[in-house]
Amino acid sequence: MLNDLVDIIVDAIADADDDHSARGIAAAIGRMITAGTLPLDARLPTVRALSKALGVSPTTVSEAWQTLAAVGAIEARGRLGTFVRQPVGPGGPQRYRRVTEGPGHFALDLSSGTPDPELLPDLAKVVALVSRQSLTSSYLDQPVLPELDTILRNSWPFPAEDLTVVDGAMDALDRIAQVVVRLGDRVVVENPTFPPLIDLLEQLGAEVIGVDLDAEGISVDGLRAALEQHPTAVFLQPRAQNPTGITMTARRCIAVSKLLADSDAVIVEDDHSGDIASGELVSIGTRLPRRTVHIRSFSKSHGPDLRLAAVGGAGDVVSAVANRRLLGPGWSSRILQAVLVGLLNDPATAKMLRTARDEYARRRTLVTAVFDERRVPFTGTDGINLWLHVNDERSALLTLAAQGIGAAPGEPFMVRDDADFLRVTVGLLQGSDDDINAVAHRLADAAGLGQDRFGVRRPGQR
Ligand SMILES: Cc1ncc(COP(=O)(O)O)c(C=O)c1O
Repeated sequence: MLNDLVDIIVDAIADADDDHSARGIAAAIGRMITAGTLPLDARLPTVRALSKALGVSPTTVSEAWQTLAAVGAIEARGRLGTFVRQPVGPGGPQRYRRVTEGPGHFALDLSSGTPDPELLPDLAKVVALVSRQSLTSSYLDQPVLPELDTILRNSWPFPAEDLTVVDGAMDALDRIAQVVVRLGDRVVVENPTFPPLIDLLEQLGAEVIGVDLDAEGISVDGLRAALEQHPTAVFLQPRAQNPTGITMTARRCIAVSKLLADSDAVIVEDDHSGDIASGELVSIGTRLPRRTVHIRSFSKSHGPDLRLAAVGGAGDVVSAVANRRLLGPGWSSRILQAVLVGLLNDPATAKMLRTARDEYARRRTLVTAVFDERRVPFTGTDGINLWLHVNDERSALLTLAAQGIGAAPGEPFMVRDDADFLRVTVGLLQGSDDDINAVAHRLADAAGLGQDRFGVRRPGQR
């Protein structure tokens, strides 16, 4: 029986591009568990037997076992052997924690990726108007307030088959991933991307494929190659991509949509910056509305503590999210939804949003002008973050920390960690042009690439 199983596993790996790496073995076994070929409590072959059959070292199979054990897909039961178990992830925002685990308190903390509280709309007037709590008559009421539903549908980038409201974009990503992604699935993300998304997908036992970006968005060639691996889902950020600050161009959106049209992947678009982004919003949903789920967060524009994001598009995915939620919290507070409706209808809030967008653009362009002048490599044309290429990540962080400036290390954002970067939330830089220029020069100094203030090229740099 176990010998048969070895053959079945060898065949499954051969069918899946014959990837004999630890990752490839783990993903193939993950898929067999998901498909039921390896049922709960099935005993896996020994490391020795499988490594011999695959012609790889026992260490490679052990590494695959460790990956599967880490997501709770298998467990070693001492001398009895290793068995398939119910997959439950080890939990936790592991990469995400590394973003903020710097030396502690900074006089100027640019590591957080959060909006400037002073550029958020004032809630007082609107909250005062939402005085009644009788917004819910049954636990099975529509989860979205009808007025909010109308506003959202009218401003959605494409006709949404279904639409719901959840507790922020991260909640949306979590709920969509739970519906779409299964153990062993391949999932495409941008590289770099928002660390908790990688944490989340890895916790679900997915094989995460990172595709690089260029100035126009996700790379077409990179995506084409990734789609050959038949991913279940592609997660993208259409504008002010976190961490790179890149906004996808209309031309790139068309090219990407054409590629995706020939795949089966569900497309998940995370418009996490919403109204504070300056760039035009493009959406693959305008061409593939039945396969695209679009997320709009109100955190950066209207306040992270509202905990509200809308999710709309592909009916099968959105309704699965909403239905599953009825077995949990049911809906997002209608009181908060009513506050959001008030804000969306309020002219003073609309004005504040324009001010915020312009102010973020001012702060960002002041810094990027210094980077350009100093020839420091970076990306970022939208939103609150810049992605700064540095000579050495650790020493750049320490140099900045010594001056009381915090920045986020690039490593947790990278699917493949092969270069040194910092994410800098320049949207938090308050003050005059001169104040911001001074910080920009410190960032450029810490990058250690490009030219210093006196135009002297540093050794070993391009
Ligand atoms: C790309 C991305 N997605 C999701 C989120 C989470 O947003 P929310 O506060 O709406 O959960 C963030 C927050 O910074 C983000 O940058």
